[in-house]
Amino acid sequence: MPFFRRKPRPLPSLDAYARWAATYPPEAHNALMRAEEDALLALLPPLDGRIVLDAACGSGRYLRIALERGARCVIGTDNSWDMLHRVPAHPSARSMQHLVLSTLDSLPLADASIDVAICGLAIGHLPRIEQSFAELARVLVPGGCALVSDVHPFLFLGGAQRTFESGGRTYAVEHTVHLYSVIHAAAAAVNLQVDALREPRLLPEDRTDRTPGAPVAIIYRLAKAHGSPR
Ligand SMILES: C[S@@+](CC[C@H](N)C(=O)[O-])C[C@H]1O[C@@H](n2cnc3c(N)ncnc32)[C@H](O)[C@@H]1O
Repeated sequence: MPFFRRKPRPLPSLDAYARWAATYPPEAHNALMRAEEDALLALLPPLDGRIVLDAACGSGRYLRIALERGARCVIGTDNSWDMLHRVPAHPSARSMQHLVLSTLDSLPLADASIDVAICGLAIGHLPRIEQSFAELARVLVPGGCALVSDVHPFLFLGGAQRTFESGGRTYAVEHTVHLYSVIHAAAAAVNLQVDALREPRLLPEDRTDRTPGAPVAIIYRLAKAHGSPR
């Protein structure tokens, strides 16, 4: 699985995605992403008529899916211009797509303005997640939910890295392992309830004799209670 090999000194996320963006497709493009997406979509509530945030949207994989599922308005944020430029336009009379340069720590959105937030495979790029979870909680409407995924911590126990190829070279990207205890505490601190958790293995069609059966991704669905203050 080329996404994870023992490789060189990792680049900071911004530098890595500046190099990677040109070849980063707006869809699941490796076995880990296919497993993550399959599990995340199984937890996604109906999006018809909803306002959906894709936080750290990258090249817009989940923006496209949200639009296909009938979202009224999708908002993609990312701290990399290069990645935002990779998001395809989605002309549609029924829905709107907005893209905003922003970090996960400071979302340029009003309180209680988002029905469903998705944050795919990005929190590992943050040294700390607490402020980003506070922002997700702040922008969700009461009764809304956030789907947050990450590379599974098991994959890093042996020192594996997230890697990519660019210009004939292999690069690695900085990644911080956030253990369950850290994620649960960050959610509880901002009154987000963990109401579903998935740890998918590779899809059967992506498994080989060399890929162990360990989980490759972790997906949380975090609910903001109906009675939460707006
Ligand atoms: C592995 S990509 C995932 C992209 C997309 N969410 C997906 O699942 O296809 C991680 C993305 O997180 C973005 N990112 C990393 N750190 C960020 C931060 N602090 N704030 C916002 N975006 C960030 C990167 O620029 C990159 O686009």
